[in-house]
Amino acid sequence: PKKIILDCDPGHDDAIALLLAHGNPNIELLAVTTVVGNQTLDKVTRNALSVARIANITNVPFAAGAVRPLIRNVEIAPDIHGDSGLDGPVLPEPIIQLDKRHAIDLIIDTIMSHPPKTVTLVPTGGLTNIAMAVRKEPKIVERVKEVVLMGGGYHVGNWSAVAEFNIKIDPEAAHIVFNEKWPVTMVGLDLTHQALATPEVIEKIKAIKTKPAKFVLEMLEFFGKMYKQAQGFTYPPVHDPCAVAYVINPELIKTKRVPVDIELTGTLTLGMTVADFRFPPDDNCHTQVATELDHTGFWDLIVDSLKRIGEV
Ligand code: BDR
Ligand code: CA
Repeated sequence: PKKIILDCDPGHDDAIALLLAHGNPNIELLAVTTVVGNQTLDKVTRNALSVARIANITNVPFAAGAVRPLIRNVEIAPDIHGDSGLDGPVLPEPIIQLDKRHAIDLIIDTIMSHPPKTVTLVPTGGLTNIAMAVRKEPKIVERVKEVVLMGGGYHVGNWSAVAEFNIKIDPEAAHIVFNEKWPVTMVGLDLTHQALATPEVIEKIKAIKTKPAKFVLEMLEFFGKMYKQAQGFTYPPVHDPCAVAYVINPELIKTKRVPVDIELTGTLTLGMTVADFRFPPDDNCHTQVATELDHTGFWDLIVDSLKRIGEV
C-alpha cells in the first residue's frame, strides 16, 4: 500500500477523504494532521477526532497544527461548512486522544522515520503546516515521495474570481509548497468540480446502509444545500477525496505537467495558481495539474471504502 499523511481541515469533503483513505486497502494512513481552514483549529481538530470514532480509526496518530496562516488573518468558511465546520450530522464525542506533538513535528518525524521516497503528503486544507514543516526540516523535500494536494485551479476560482480557498487563505504557505523541488500534483477546482455527488452517487451510498455510510449521506445533504446557496451548484463538488483517489489509482485522473506558481501581490489575483501552458514543460518542471476525472471510478472507490469500513 501507499503510505500517506493526510493534512486536513474537516470539513465535509475532508471527512470523506479521511474515510476513503482509511477504508481503501491500497492506502496506509500513517498520520492525520489538522490545520485552521474551514473552521478554527479547535473545531476542525475535534471534527477529525469525531470522524475517527465514526469509522473506528484507532491506531493512527492525530495531531493539531497551525492556529492561523503564516501572515494573513484567519479566514474560515461557515457558508459552506457551517458553524461547527462539519454541520449536518450529529458528531459523536471523540474517543481517541490527540498526539502530544505539534502537527509539523508529527509530519517531520513520520517522513524522516520512513525510507526515502515512500511517504506521500496529502494536504486538503491550507498549506500552513506543510510550509512550516519544510522550513523546520528542509530534508523532508528530498525525502517524501510526492505531494498530492487539493487546492488551486488553473482556470477557475471559488474564493475569488481566480483563487481557490485553500490557497487563498494562506498564499505565502502555498508559495513555499509550490516552490520546493518535490513533485507536486495540484488537484484543483478544474478537476474537483467534476467530482459531483449526483443523485446516482447518493443512491449507491444509500444502498450500503451502515452507520458510516449514513454519516456520509447526512454530510452530503448539508454540503449540497450549502453549495447550492453559496455557489449555485446543482450537486456539490466533493473536492478533497479526489487527492486521495489520485494516490490510490492515478489512472482515474488525467494530469498535465506544467509550471505553477502562486500570486502573492495581485490586488485582484491574490492566491491565484498561475499555470504557464505556453511551452512544453522542461525537465525541471516538478509540478503537474489534474485535468480530467473518471467520475464513476472515483465514486466507486468511495463506495468500496465505505463497504469495507462496514458497520463499526
Ligand atoms: C476546498 O476548500 C474547503 O472548503 C474544502 O474542504 C476543500 O478543501 C475547496 O475549495
Ligand atoms: Ca479541505
